[in-house]
Amino acid sequence: MSDMTEPQSRPRYRVAPGGRIEGELTVPGDKSISHRALMFGGIAEGDTEITGFLAGEDCLATLRALRSLGVRIDRPEEQLAQGSADRAATERPAREPPAGVSEEIPSGDGRVLVHGVGPDGLQPSSAALDMGNAGTAIRLFMGLLAPQRFDSTLIGDESLMRRPMERVATPLRSMGANIETRDGKPPVEIKGSTEMRAIDYKLPVASAQVKSAVLLAGLQAFGRTHVTEPAPSRDHTERMLGAFGVEVLRDGARIGIEGGQTPRGTHVRVPGDFSSAAFFIVAGCLAAENGLLLRNVGVNPTRTGLIEMLQLMGADIRIHPHGARSDSGPNGEPVADIEVRKSRLRGIKVPEALVLLSIDEFPVFFIAAACAEGETLVRGALELRVKESDRLAAMAQGLSILGVENQLLADGLWIRGGDRFGGGTIDSHGDHRIAMAFAIASLKARSAIEILDVANVATSFPGFVATARAAGLQIDAT
Ligand code: S3P
Repeated sequence: MSDMTEPQSRPRYRVAPGGRIEGELTVPGDKSISHRALMFGGIAEGDTEITGFLAGEDCLATLRALRSLGVRIDRPEEQLAQGSADRAATERPAREPPAGVSEEIPSGDGRVLVHGVGPDGLQPSSAALDMGNAGTAIRLFMGLLAPQRFDSTLIGDESLMRRPMERVATPLRSMGANIETRDGKPPVEIKGSTEMRAIDYKLPVASAQVKSAVLLAGLQAFGRTHVTEPAPSRDHTERMLGAFGVEVLRDGARIGIEGGQTPRGTHVRVPGDFSSAAFFIVAGCLAAENGLLLRNVGVNPTRTGLIEMLQLMGADIRIHPHGARSDSGPNGEPVADIEVRKSRLRGIKVPEALVLLSIDEFPVFFIAAACAEGETLVRGALELRVKESDRLAAMAQGLSILGVENQLLADGLWIRGGDRFGGGTIDSHGDHRIAMAFAIASLKARSAIEILDVANVATSFPGFVATARAAGLQIDAT
């Protein structure tokens, strides 16, 4: 299991109230796409070059796991970082920045070269595979490793060890997988089976991770596997498998994959992560008098529900797509620049159809709601309770500390917004998105906001503090 830092030494943010947002920004690469590019590259025949890779802790957990499974992966930034660490060690005493607040992450162009071993080329790992904080990694690896000829054990950090895994284990078992969880949670013990069979599975919960795990198992099973989604979840797996030359059949909500196809190495260009851009989209709505431009952001329509929700609230957000067709782009992922301006927001009743299309953006959306005139109601968001933290409870608790009137519901949150609120000390519960959301809240706070336990910001947004400062937030990490 990942090493846990002592509570008193856990890094925190202090953000001064107010501030103005402006300029142009880029955000780090997309987390969902980076995980998939590594995994598909690992089981492909031939090399895969990834550019714009997110060197966040979650994707690095996937990278390390693949190396433990015998995949050779070159990352020039690692050598650069190693080279400068060696120089620093000889030239001056090493000074460790607090975890998660490092500004030392080399930006580079996120180049990674994965030397694919082919669908049958993975080797058993000598130790349990540690997925850290990464839900996507553990669930997709379940689908990838269940059909192997060797056994694997998957573990993670304190948060991941509390998250539900049966939603993936159940369909995989009906394909013939031999998987055990502990009370439905990790550790996940997999006894590899090369005899897995296709299934026709109706997902009880709309989840891209479950869908992707079943499709990855289906790729290595006998026959044609189908999954049907109750609502469209993010479709990066389907798009990227296509880029790797794997035929994915789509018929409305039903997706099919024929077992035995061989992915072929390709070039994956990872766009900026919409979920990271989301913090600055909201910041721009709150405080960008002269506008803020976010460059090179992935705008896959299964991810951009936040834009629609904010526009319903009255936000001034403009999308400038790259390329002629808004649904095209490298690897079939649409990319755009996003321009946002300060606007007067009004509370809304969020249409349930938008919930899944913005599932990771609710922490910062709730901050927008707290700054909007009138009431905002979100229902149908039960899934928020099983993310890196119980995000409904964590947000309700933090908003109450700031003095924002709210009511925690079984599957949502009701918020009465206003122009300003107070400051205070917020527990992020070790959840990266809760920590970053409350940093943005400082733009409308009357006094400073202190945010505890922020190390996990490094899972998805290395360099967040530097980017936030460049945008105009008065944030310090200690
Ligand atoms: C992800 C899917 C979503 C999302 C997560 C990333 C993915 O989870 O919340 O951050 O990369 O497939 P669910 O599949 O549980 O909805």
